[in-house]
This record gives sequence, structure tokens and C-alpha cells, in this order.
Amino acid sequence: MHFSSWTLRSRLIALTVLLVAVTSVFVGGVMAFVIKQSFVANFDNQLANSVQGISRSLASSGQIASGQYGVEPGTIVAYYPTYATAAGVQFGTNDAVQLTQRQLQNVESSAGSDRLRTGAPAAFATGDVGPREYRFTTAPVGPGGSNGVLVVGKPTSLLNTEIAGVLAPVAAVVILAIVLAGLLAALIIGRALRPLRRVAAVASNVASLPLERGDVELPERVPEEDTNPHTEVGQVGSALNNLLDSVQSALEVRQASEEKVRNFVADASHELRTPLASIRGYAEITRRFGGDLSEDVQHNIGRIESEAQRMTSLVEDLLLLARLDAERELATTDVDLSRLLVDVVSDANAAGRDHEWELDIPDEPVIVRGDAAKLQQVFTNLVANARVHTPAGTRVVVELAEPRDGHVLARVRDDGPGIPEKLRPQLFGRFVRGDSSRARSTGSTGLGLSIVNAVVEAHHGTVSVASEPGTTIFTVQLPVQQPAEAKQPQPA
Ligand SMILES: Nc1ncnc2c1ncn2[C@@H]1O[C@H](COP(=O)(O)OP(=O)(O)O)[C@@H](O)[C@H]1O
Ligand SMILES: [Mg+2]
Repeated sequence: MHFSSWTLRSRLIALTVLLVAVTSVFVGGVMAFVIKQSFVANFDNQLANSVQGISRSLASSGQIASGQYGVEPGTIVAYYPTYATAAGVQFGTNDAVQLTQRQLQNVESSAGSDRLRTGAPAAFATGDVGPREYRFTTAPVGPGGSNGVLVVGKPTSLLNTEIAGVLAPVAAVVILAIVLAGLLAALIIGRALRPLRRVAAVASNVASLPLERGDVELPERVPEEDTNPHTEVGQVGSALNNLLDSVQSALEVRQASEEKVRNFVADASHELRTPLASIRGYAEITRRFGGDLSEDVQHNIGRIESEAQRMTSLVEDLLLLARLDAERELATTDVDLSRLLVDVVSDANAAGRDHEWELDIPDEPVIVRGDAAKLQQVFTNLVANARVHTPAGTRVVVELAEPRDGHVLARVRDDGPGIPEKLRPQLFGRFVRGDSSRARSTGSTGLGLSIVNAVVEAHHGTVSVASEPGTTIFTVQLPVQQPAEAKQPQPA
């Protein structure tokens, strides 16, 4: 996983631990270096003391005394007298052990043969004698080095154990500090980010509300303690609260203006009914009792009548939709869907004698809770579409299935030409209709299916369509066990 996709919490913890680790390792490293330097200096000091002491003792007595001058087990003492071949001893736990010729050569090469020849004063060198590493120093023996040169070497393992003894606790403390920093960072950062999580929770709760329709309440706010403007999270919290406040008032304004438009449409449709009825009436009277009218005038009056009729159904549909939008409660009674379909199909049969009608309902009556008149409108519209938008001879089947899983399915199927493809996506939208001249002459408004949709939604059901040339099926699904007070969802 890429670092930038980590949570803020993990990132902050990782960064803190890294920072503490780098700092501690740096400080620890510097400390280790300084400690090591001082230990080496101390070691060399002791070595210098040893070589001086032994050199003096050699000069005065010609002997190397064991157990003196800081000669510890493992110390190598090699003497290069001017008058004889070199001799060396290694001090063990108890005794001095004579160095072999080979070991002596190693001492010589490690300590530097130049110095041995010239008898130069002490300088420190590191080298291997056998398996161990030694630090050597030399000293002249006798006045002006006249007796020879002395070499003393101590195993560095002594030094290393001492250094390790000091540095091990330092390393342990560094590791402990890193672990502790990680734990503390996790704790503190977790706490510091908790308000951010609360703010996020409020935001996602609000986002899950259905804001697009109706009277929306936004009860959710970031709690007081997370809106302190002196903290960053508090600023986010109070910004979110301000946003929610303005969204709330925007929604109220939207709701008010929607209501205004709905009321206006309902009022306007209602007001238009009376003059429309008059126009139809006068047109009819003129046509019937107008005396000898020319064919042209008769035709025109017929057009006035049919257009007035079309406008009447448009106004009726608009009024129904506006009322559906505005009404919150449906009048709910037990509705016998089987009976309702029988009525709808027999009406359709009377109106469309040039179509074939078939009804297929179960033996038992199917009862749903709802508004009988509006449910009737649903099936009247679907059946009218199957009659009006299909050619003569089309077969229309209305089926009602047995209720299952708390739902009942009603289908209106025809074998007509199908719904034009470009209509299908917004078929249930308002004023969506096929533009055939036949549809126009039959009073097509494009509101039929949007009424179907609104009524079915108000009954907590669904309506869907499947259409291809030769079969068009509208399926209405309604809950059989309708809750006592069916609430109409808020209109868009
Ligand atoms: N059974 C059907 N067969 C063919 N086309 C249909 C059918 N039902 C609906 N349509 C198409 O869908 C459009 C929208 O239907 P609708 O909303 O009832 O409006 P309207 O019937 O007033 O035109 C219709 O204009 C028609 O083109
Ligand atoms: Mg229609």
C-alpha cells in the first residue's frame, strides 16, 4: 500500500516513530562514539603506565614482574634487548607463558619493527597476535634505550567488553524510547483525531438523507464540543454546521417555492375546467342547432370541440398530478383489485371494439389497501395506452397474479408495435409521448404514465415496462399488506 493511501492516523504515528528513531539513533551514535573515545584513551593510558613501569623494573632488576603495573591475564610483554635475541611472555591467569617464535614475529610486525629497532618512545598500534586483537605500545629500556626496547600489548577484547557494558543499556533505552513514542503517538493521535471522525459521521449521516424531495429536516449537527474555532477540527466542524444551516434554509426555500408552484397548477387547472366546459358546450350547441353551416365551418367547429376535449383531459391530468404531489395522505380502504380490473377491462372493451381483450385473474379476490379511484386511474391509463397507441386488431391481455411474498403483480400486455426506443428512458416522465398524429388526435397528453407512476409510488409499489416490437408489458407491483396510514412520498 502506498504511503499516501494510509490513514492520517497511521501516517502521523509512522512519522513520529521515524522522527524519534532517527533522533535517538543519532544521539545514541554520538554518545557511543564519545564513550568509546574516552575508553580507548583510558585503555591507552593504562597501557602506557604498564610499559613505563615494566621498562623501569627491567632497567633496574633485569626482570619482568608478573602481577605488577597493570599486567592482566592475556597481556603480552616482549623485550628486545640490544645484546641478545628477543624474548616475550604472555601473562595467563596464573603464569607468564613463553611466546613462541611465531608469536614473537607477529608482535614484531604488529607493533612495527621500525620502532623496535630505534627504540622510539611509546605509540599505540593495533594488531593481531594469534586469534586475538591487541593494542601495543613500546618503551625504551635503560638510559636512552641503551638496554633495548620493550613491547607491551593488551587484548582489545577487554576494552570491547567495557564499552559494550556501557553501550548495551544505551541501546536498550533507545529501543524503549522508540516503542514508547509509538504507543504514545498512537494514543494521542487517536484521541486528537476522534473529533474528526465525529464530524465525518455527521457529514455521512446527512449525505444519506433523501434531500431531493419534499419537506426535509436536517436534525444532524456537529456537537458543540467539536466546533471550537481555536482548533483545526473545530473549524471543520463549525464550517460543516454553517453549511448544514444554509442547506437547511435553501431546502426550506425550495420546498416553499415548490408548494407555491403546485398550488398554482392545481388552482389554474381547477379554474380552467369551467370555461373549458363552456367552450365544449357552445361548440356542441353550435354544431347541432346552428342551422345550415357550410362544411368548412362544421369541420372547424368539430376541431374546436375535439381540441377542447383534449385540453379538458390535459387539465384533468394536471389537476390530478398536482393533487397527488400536494397530498400527503391517501384515502386508504380495502380495494378488490380483481373487481377493479374487471371494470377497467369491460370499459376498455366498450371503448375499443376493434381490439381483442382478455382478462386473467385468480379465483380468490386480491385485496390491497389504497385509494380505489386512483388505482382505477392507474389501470385505466395503462389499458387506454394499449388501446390508443396500438393498431386495430391488437390483442391486449390484463393479468393479475396470485399474491406472493406480500406483493401482487398486475400486468397489461399487448402485441402492438412497442414503445418507441427514444421514449423509453424517460417514459414515466411528464409530457413524454410519442409524436404520432394518431396519438395527437386521440387526446394524448404525455401525462398518463406519470400519473401511473405517482399513484403506484404513493402506494409503495413499483411500475416497470418491457417493450419490443410485438410485446409491450407494463408490470405494476403493489404490496398486499398495506400499512394502515400509507404515506405518499414527497413529490420531486
Ligand atoms: N402500450 C403501448 N404501446 C405503444 N406505445 C405506448 C404504449 N403505452 C405508452 N406508449 C407510448 O408512451 C407515451 C407516453 O404514454 P402516456 O404517458 O400515457 O402519454 P399519452 O398516452 O398521453 O401519450 C405514449 O405517447 C406512447 O407513445
Ligand atoms: Mg396515455
